[in-house]
Amino acid sequence: MSRWRPDQPGVGALLETIENQRLGCELAGSPLYADLLDAVADDVVADGPCAGLLAPLAGARYGDAVLLRLLAAVHELVLEGEAPELAAHYPSAGGSPGPAAGRAFVAEVARHRDRIAGQLGRGVQTNEVGRSVPLLTGYLALAPAGLPLRILEVGASAGLNLRFDRYRYEAGGAGFGPPDSPLRFVDPWAGRVPPLDRRIEVATREGCDLDPIDPTTDAGRLRLRSYLWPDQPQRRARLDAALAVAAQVAAPVERADAASWLAHRLREPAVGCVTVVVHSIVLQYLSVEDRSAVLGLLDDAGARATPEAPLVWLRMEPGGDQAETRVTLWPGGTTHLVARSSYHGPPVALVDAGPVPW
Ligand SMILES: C[S@@+](CC[C@H](N)C(=O)[O-])C[C@H]1O[C@@H](n2cnc3c(N)ncnc32)[C@H](O)[C@@H]1O
Repeated sequence: MSRWRPDQPGVGALLETIENQRLGCELAGSPLYADLLDAVADDVVADGPCAGLLAPLAGARYGDAVLLRLLAAVHELVLEGEAPELAAHYPSAGGSPGPAAGRAFVAEVARHRDRIAGQLGRGVQTNEVGRSVPLLTGYLALAPAGLPLRILEVGASAGLNLRFDRYRYEAGGAGFGPPDSPLRFVDPWAGRVPPLDRRIEVATREGCDLDPIDPTTDAGRLRLRSYLWPDQPQRRARLDAALAVAAQVAAPVERADAASWLAHRLREPAVGCVTVVVHSIVLQYLSVEDRSAVLGLLDDAGARATPEAPLVWLRMEPGGDQAETRVTLWPGGTTHLVARSSYHGPPVALVDAGPVPW
């Protein structure tokens, strides 16, 4: 037991973090997780098992997503068949949410305390393939350069978005990507559709992550599924389809931090291709020092870019209620907002990107 009282320093901050995450889950379409986080908050106030587990992390930043770590650790137990009573409330395990879900959740936390405590140290590794839609929107803006792409993704997790060109996107009677891809996005754009008839050639694709997940192993697949929200079957279907593609298309993700990995990759301009440094929902996880190191590396490499060896920074990162996708193009260093979207990708709205040719 944590020996906390709700009026003690730290508890108020933790309850606020739980409430923010609860709201985030509610707004992003997971009523089950919103209810479970209500139960976690009640349990923290009652000094129950969740209080004991979360106490050491009470000072963590919201960006550390401590609650999502807890929810994922418990979801993994459910998917493994280790928590049958709770599984009865998880659609991802064939159940349906009911009023006893919160009580069952807290009971599983108590039962598997040590294992969950170990997993709370792991970062959130959600690899959301829906983000390939806003990212494709950015890649399509680069197509007129006519050069193959050398793609470098930082914070790539399992590298599923490195395979964006192997997924099928359809809208307005046009399509991009292999028609027989297991993963199909149908009408993922709201309003205008980017030119899907443009050709994109990927010369090389590679990424780095502090803790890469191998999507070709059972353990890797289980972990990726555990980060999804159990009452969002569409995301689960997308992930399963992307895992089928991952079994066919290699996209190595090295265990490395973003700054040192990029420093090595950006040392020399690469002639004859567009070097694209890409990331989605990663910046919030970098320390202030790492973030400024990455930005400094991009500025330095941008200054060395030429028309024969251009550099592009493509990113989908938070922009308030929505995510924003931007490209910066070197030589020149001009930045364009190209799309706004949900945090998980669709629906994606094109933004008039000035000189970026749609
Ligand atoms: C929320 S996930 C996003 C994963 C993926 N980009 C996506 O959009 O699906 C954030 C990822 O950033 C990674 N990460 C955090 N800090 C990092 C760092 N300093 N260097 C490299 N990767 C990092 C995490 O391990 C995690 O896989």
